[in-house]
Amino acid sequence: MKRFKSLTAVVLAGFFAVSAVGCGGSSAEETTDETAVEEDADTEAEAEESDETAALTGTEGLLIWGTNAAFEPYEYMEGDVVVGIDAEIADAIAEKLGLTAQVENMDFDAIIPSVTTGKVDIGLAGMTVNEERLNNVNFSEPYVEAGQAIIVPEGSDITSVADLEGKIIGVQRGTTGDEYVSTEENGVGAASVERFSNGPDAAQSLLTGKIDAIVLDDEPSKKIVANSTGLVILDELLTSEQYAIAVAKDNTALLDGINAALAEMEESGELQEILDKYLNSDEDAAEE
Ligand code: ARG
Repeated sequence: MKRFKSLTAVVLAGFFAVSAVGCGGSSAEETTDETAVEEDADTEAEAEESDETAALTGTEGLLIWGTNAAFEPYEYMEGDVVVGIDAEIADAIAEKLGLTAQVENMDFDAIIPSVTTGKVDIGLAGMTVNEERLNNVNFSEPYVEAGQAIIVPEGSDITSVADLEGKIIGVQRGTTGDEYVSTEENGVGAASVERFSNGPDAAQSLLTGKIDAIVLDDEPSKKIVANSTGLVILDELLTSEQYAIAVAKDNTALLDGINAALAEMEESGELQEILDKYLNSDEDAAEE
């Protein structure tokens, strides 16, 4: 991802130096704030508004990220913990912003509404930037390139995109894969589209022969195929997409902060390390 210009990083780093001073909680400042709360709530609200470094997120000290943790390797459950690329990115960004990441696991199609209503601060879910979503939220700079892949049972007569015509195709509800096979414009000529809560559920259905193929993001598709027996992934990708972090339109301070953090992670190699850990070698990921 060459899109992060180092000049931008320098400018944003400056922004952070300022933020850090403001958020760092020098005891003098905190005392002043507390006094303000006691004396006059309105005054405090005004003070916060005039203060560029006022709370970046809905809950002080927290960066609440909405996700759908059935999307290995980006987010998935290990016991009752959400792990994966996005979990590590959430932690790294939160740390840079002086916050603690806290995950909110939900249906994928609930994430954008949760961002717009402030239930969560960000949507971080292997989420593709697209025009429709841009009507409702802002997106950070992209952090990964992806595409829609096709999963079929071993020995299937579907060997290319053209073969999807007349087939029953499974997708995760509300995803770009869903959009791709469901809209007339891209239409693959499916007989019908079955919408599942997540990819692994769709895989179960594929294994029992209820559907003929799944259209799902490439890396999660590879994990599904690796984690089950009897499924294969076709070489051809249907789309070219970019994942980014969704932020409420009115919270540009948080958007700037996230972009600065991502730029820093890009420059330092931390972002690449996280991606490599999950995308290139399963053994490495398991060891760590
Ligand atoms: N990239 C696709 C989209 O944005 C699928 C994302 C699904 N993510 C998830 N965590 N289940 O629509």
